[in-house]
Amino acid sequence: MNSITIFKAKGLRGEIRVPGDKSISHRAVMLGSIAKGTTQVEGFLPGEDCVRTVNALRQMGVNITAPNPQELVIHGQGLRGLKPPANTIYVGNSGTSMRLLSGILAEQKFKSLMDGDASLRSRPMGRVITPLKEMGADVWAQREGKYPPLHFSPTAALNGVNYTSPIASAQVKSAILLAGLYAEGETKVTEPAKSRDHTERMFKQFGVPITIEDLAVSICGQADNALCGQNIIIPGDFSGAAFFMVAGLIVPNSEIVIKGVGINSTRTGLLEVLQQMGGEIELVNKNEQLAEPIADIYVRSSLLRGFSLPPEVVPRMIDEFPILCIAAALAEGTTTITGAKELRVKETDRICSMAEGLRKMGVKVEEFEDGMQIEGQQVLNGAKCRSHGDHRTAMSWAIAGLVAQGETEIANIDCIATSFPGFFDLLDSLKSKG
Ligand code: S3P
Repeated sequence: MNSITIFKAKGLRGEIRVPGDKSISHRAVMLGSIAKGTTQVEGFLPGEDCVRTVNALRQMGVNITAPNPQELVIHGQGLRGLKPPANTIYVGNSGTSMRLLSGILAEQKFKSLMDGDASLRSRPMGRVITPLKEMGADVWAQREGKYPPLHFSPTAALNGVNYTSPIASAQVKSAILLAGLYAEGETKVTEPAKSRDHTERMFKQFGVPITIEDLAVSICGQADNALCGQNIIIPGDFSGAAFFMVAGLIVPNSEIVIKGVGINSTRTGLLEVLQQMGGEIELVNKNEQLAEPIADIYVRSSLLRGFSLPPEVVPRMIDEFPILCIAAALAEGTTTITGAKELRVKETDRICSMAEGLRKMGVKVEEFEDGMQIEGQQVLNGAKCRSHGDHRTAMSWAIAGLVAQGETEIANIDCIATSFPGFFDLLDSLKSKG
């Protein structure tokens, strides 16, 4: 387990590109695999999580080649062409792989077993198992049927379902919609608030008719060859760009352009919040004609003000709270986050892990069951911060270290490879021009 020491930066300057979007990469591999014909993927994120999805589908007989790490050629097997895996499907730390693949495995005519690392084994799966069972799936899980590993057994055809989800979760919505491709009749999912809509957009691109009415999404069961292979261009990951957006704002003497980032409005809550906090961030060169809209993000050092987040914005920035905490720690005044209980069940309990590190850096933090309150201050103290094996927590401390007095040591940074290979090289390229 590697660690790193970060020192104060004089400024960050330059133009960068962040790796491809993690959510869209997973979906491109899954839909490409169950489509008929060839799918070409450009801008794939070759991080460990997405590679788990590739390997899972290879285990089920899909031929996927990678002419280079960001490019995939997927020889789709059609909706019902997957083969029984010889071994356990191991998805490591990847919650998206496990929850979305559950929707596909639920209707296969073979048994399968899916497992993950210690962190994933402690993450709740009841949220996908409950609706899948309602559709007729035979899924068995540990600890009251709610935790991995998950065992799938063949059943009669799934039936469509009209499911109202208690949480705004794209993983839950997507697992049900994927199972819905195989089910008899209509499958409808209604969420309490809109979560990221990459699955819906990609279903349309692959030729699956889908109806979206406000917070409800419906599809009908499909024939074997309903999905047709596509060319998919994956934009830069907004969640990866978020670390550099905050870095550009809080490190004095900085000016950064992040090129070709996905700006789907179901993902960009952080951008609006940072602008409300006084951050000088602009979207330039917007292209809204693509399946997923993109833009270049321009950021310049700014004085930030504390902000009370409206709970409605939470699902649109669910992965960005660790890095928002760093912006809040350096803003003038208080930042209050509520309605974010889901942070407790991410790769770590992110309320707990962020409060722990912020306190070590000398910041006053109050924790709530569903959020936290952070008192901003002018300086952070360098400290020994723990990632708790969580990539986004680790990267957040790396950004905080750029403005802290003294050294910031981050233990266990290997987890960053799950979503952001090359993170430190990119950061160094901006420092060298600062
Ligand atoms: C994801 C959805 C979100 C997000 C995760 C990726 C997806 O999870 O936190 O990193 O790709 O659908 P939830 O659906 O649990 O909110």
